[in-house]
Parts: sequence; C-alpha cells; structure tokens
Amino acid sequence: MDDTQLDGDLTRVLVTKEELAARISELAAEIDRDYAGKDLLLVGVLNGAVMVMADLSRALTRHCRMDWMAVSSYGSGSQSSGVVRILKDLSTDVTGLDVLLVEDIIDTGLTLSYLVSNLRSRGPASLRVLTVFRKPEAARNPVEIAYVGFDIPNEFVVGYGLDYDGRYRNLTSVGALAPHVYS
Ligand code: PRP
Repeated sequence: MDDTQLDGDLTRVLVTKEELAARISELAAEIDRDYAGKDLLLVGVLNGAVMVMADLSRALTRHCRMDWMAVSSYGSGSQSSGVVRILKDLSTDVTGLDVLLVEDIIDTGLTLSYLVSNLRSRGPASLRVLTVFRKPEAARNPVEIAYVGFDIPNEFVVGYGLDYDGRYRNLTSVGALAPHVYS
C-alpha cells in the first residue's frame, strides 16, 4: 500500500518509494564491489528486514546466500533493554563466510550489539552491518555500521518493514506515524 491509502495516519513522508529504491541500488553497487570474489551470506533480522533483503539481494549482480534470524528484545514497553533472546537461529554455519547482517533500523543499537557479538563468536571470515535506517541514539553505540541507507530523526516511523502493532510494514514509503494512531 502507499501513503495515499492511509487516511491521515502519517504526519509526513520521510522517504519515498523512489528514494528507497535508488538508495538500495547504490548500496547494492557498493556491496558488489566490496565483496568481489567473496562468499557472501546476507543475514536478515526478522521481521523488519524482509523488504530490504528482498530488494537488496535482487539489486546485487553477484551470487549471495540468504539466511534469517529472529530475536526478541526484553524491555519495558517500546524501550529496548539490550537483553536479547534468539527466537530463530541461522540454518547456516557461518564459519569462514563473509556475513552481512541486514537490519531495517538501528535505534538504540542494543539489538545490534548483541547480534554482532553473537555472530562474531561463530568465526565468520568477515562480519559487516547494513541498515536501511539509523536513528541518532545509535551513534552512541560502538558497533560500526558499514552501510547506512538513511539517517533519520528520532520519530516513530513506519513502512518498508517497520511496523506499529504489526501493521504498516507493507507501506511502500516510510513516514512518521501520527500521534493519534499510537496514543
Ligand atoms: C527492530 C529492528 C531491530 C531493533 C532495533 O526490531 O528490526 O532489530 O528493533 O532496535 P534497537 O536498536 O533499539 O535495539 P523489532 O524488535 O521492532 O522487531 P521487528 O523487526 O519484528 O519489527
């Protein structure tokens, strides 16, 4: 669905469908170059990363493998605590592979810190991170993010995999959710 079908649920569109497609193509071209001759495994973090995994993988001009993890973050309300539980682990043994961890958004960076240290302990040949969106607080996190789609303000955003209460993931653009929807 697109934002015209949302009936006032967004205060504004932050990134259009066209801007998303263009940026994903740019990132794919960088990844094509950076991983030339390497055995690339894309690891998508469910659920939010499904859109970027589908678009990024198809924008590559090289082979890649794809696998998935699902994690749940313990915390109060919408606040992440950094205590992460693996709900679905990889099917792939990543030892010796060049792993690119693919996220939809890095907010506090706590989930990412956990995932990176967990994956690193499995002995990949390399481990890098791509995120479509990064919020300001993520800058306080020491984990390096090799590929960033868009730096966005600290607003409640939905679309392109990002949800509110399980909905809006299938919105083609990304927008700020109006307070009347979630308050
Ligand atoms: C989102 C996102 C990251 C995490 C980022 O997942 O996909 O995994 O939150 O937050 P952090 O930087 O504050 O740790 P979420 O828990 O919303 O699950 P979802 O992808 O299924 O929507």
